[in-house]
Amino acid sequence: MSKELIRNFSIIAHIDHGKSTLADRILEKTSAVEKRDMKEQILDDMDLERERGITIKAHAVTVKYKAKDGKEYTFNLIDTPGHVDFSYEVSRSLKACEGAILVVDASQGVEAQTLANAYLAVDNDLEIFPVLNKIDLPAADPDKVLEQIEHVIGLDTEHAVLVSAKTGVGVDEVLEKIVEVFPPPKGDENNPTAALIFDSWYDSYRGVVILTRVFEGKIYPKMKMKFISTGKVYEVDEVGIFTPKMTKTKELKAGEVGYVIAGIKNIQDTKIGDTITEDGKECAEPLPGFQEMKPVVFSSFFPTENTHYEDLRDAMEKLKLNDAAFVFEPETSDALGFGFRCGFLGLLHMEIIQERLEREYNLDLISTAPSVEYKITKTNGEVIFVSNPSKMPEPQYIQKIEEPVVNATIVTKAEFVGPILQLCTDRRGIQKRLEYLSQERVLIEYELPLNEIVIDFYDRLKSVSRGYASFDYSIAGMRESNLVKLDILVNGEIVDALSVIVHKDKAYYRAQALTRKMKELIPRQMFEVAIQAAIGRRVIARTTVKALRKNVLAKCYGGDITRKRKLLEKQKEGKKRMKAVGKVKIPQEAFLAILKVN
Ligand code: GTP
Repeated sequence: MSKELIRNFSIIAHIDHGKSTLADRILEKTSAVEKRDMKEQILDDMDLERERGITIKAHAVTVKYKAKDGKEYTFNLIDTPGHVDFSYEVSRSLKACEGAILVVDASQGVEAQTLANAYLAVDNDLEIFPVLNKIDLPAADPDKVLEQIEHVIGLDTEHAVLVSAKTGVGVDEVLEKIVEVFPPPKGDENNPTAALIFDSWYDSYRGVVILTRVFEGKIYPKMKMKFISTGKVYEVDEVGIFTPKMTKTKELKAGEVGYVIAGIKNIQDTKIGDTITEDGKECAEPLPGFQEMKPVVFSSFFPTENTHYEDLRDAMEKLKLNDAAFVFEPETSDALGFGFRCGFLGLLHMEIIQERLEREYNLDLISTAPSVEYKITKTNGEVIFVSNPSKMPEPQYIQKIEEPVVNATIVTKAEFVGPILQLCTDRRGIQKRLEYLSQERVLIEYELPLNEIVIDFYDRLKSVSRGYASFDYSIAGMRESNLVKLDILVNGEIVDALSVIVHKDKAYYRAQALTRKMKELIPRQMFEVAIQAAIGRRVIARTTVKALRKNVLAKCYGGDITRKRKLLEKQKEGKKRMKAVGKVKIPQEAFLAILKVN
């Protein structure tokens, strides 16, 4: 197949603007997928998805399209994950493409992820054309949205197409634009092989499946392929494409996209963004921009029952098989015993993993408040990275602390600008841009400490905007900041898993709010419990949980047995998520109390 007839592209969009619906229409209109098979194939796809947990990974579908010029084109439609936590993977997927379709809901207009994704596509030098979707809706205002795209994103709208992915209007024109606007791939199949890994996952039957875009040379069965970042060599078993079913082919050549199977057992060997070459006939240099995915959000997981430690380890190892971005290492807490310190790409990633551990592996976990990684320069000049507040050196040994900051984009209705600016200021943000997209919609850009985002920023944003704000962010770098460790003491003992890092100016207020919250959350016990917050040795807030006087059953007068049982069951429920710290039982909520004070 001539390279001239290949088009590699992605569809990018803000969530719910119709990316999946448009992709379905494109598959349906291209010869590879007959309409009657459509449902079945989409289901297949969903099974795959289900096996892998959630749509966090990209995949690629190869279809044929007979264009108006009479020629048959091969389209490789490369899917991108939709959440900010996985923007690294979006970026990888875009590197496999020459073009991107930017879908914007014509009734909504440009949203935060529209911008973030468009910028990623521009950074990757892709040709882009906008699709204004949902023009069947009465509220659709394509002219206004076109104006926003030109004005705010700075994108040429000459090739924009008005579409209803729902009714199918405009989809034929999209197919023609793909041929017309996106360039064919470059590269030479006779050069030494250079292919980009843009996705991989573990299949229990076939081992690791690699998704790759070949830029130079080719990949074929029996070839000795080498991963540049690790130097590991594997013999290729099979190559092929997704139609969307896995379909074997003879080879994958420069310009093509497909899968490679090579009996690889360990997903860690196939790093997303790595370059595949041929052993003994290596390409001169790796494809540009290989950068390992780094966790940015950290939390510790402890089993509520110490006997479940090994189960937790097994479960996490299984999850990691399919998720190279999830990292963990054993941790011992004075308060909580044996557990693991875990690293994630973001908050959603963390929630997914925790939920899967609890649901699929039936584990009861205590998790600590999410934290970020700080760069600390000690007074002796040593530089260390600390992601666990309890591991922070004592204040007298710290010369300076730097924290990760992000560039955040928020799009909202004009009426919520005031409260949102207030929120961003409260969260130590620095305003970068404020622009009216139209009379009623506003684009806001802020530099914000990641630490302030992991502490319930989404929830606050949602509540101050009554849900009318879209949000996206990307890591921007490190910023020096006046931070301190706030310890919580229960009956005089520091509970290491409750320590948090906060800005000095807010420490006093946070300490008050935290101890008050703890008092609400820690149930009364047979004795008095003192709760204190301290910076170093200085106690800056305190409360007391009064001792329990009666036992719960006393209320029932011995009469109503069902009520009694209910009460006991309720107690047992509550107990499940408690951890005894010394003599005091502390519930899970207390470890996340920092997320609940503001
Ligand atoms: P995620 O997969 O969640 O990221 O969203 P998406 O961008 O893929 O959006 P999806 O295709 O799931 O569409 C979101 C919603 O919009 C669905 O309820 C669709 O049925 C609806 N939708 C998509 N295209 C159109 C359209 O052209 N007109 C109308 N009226 N609704 C549409």
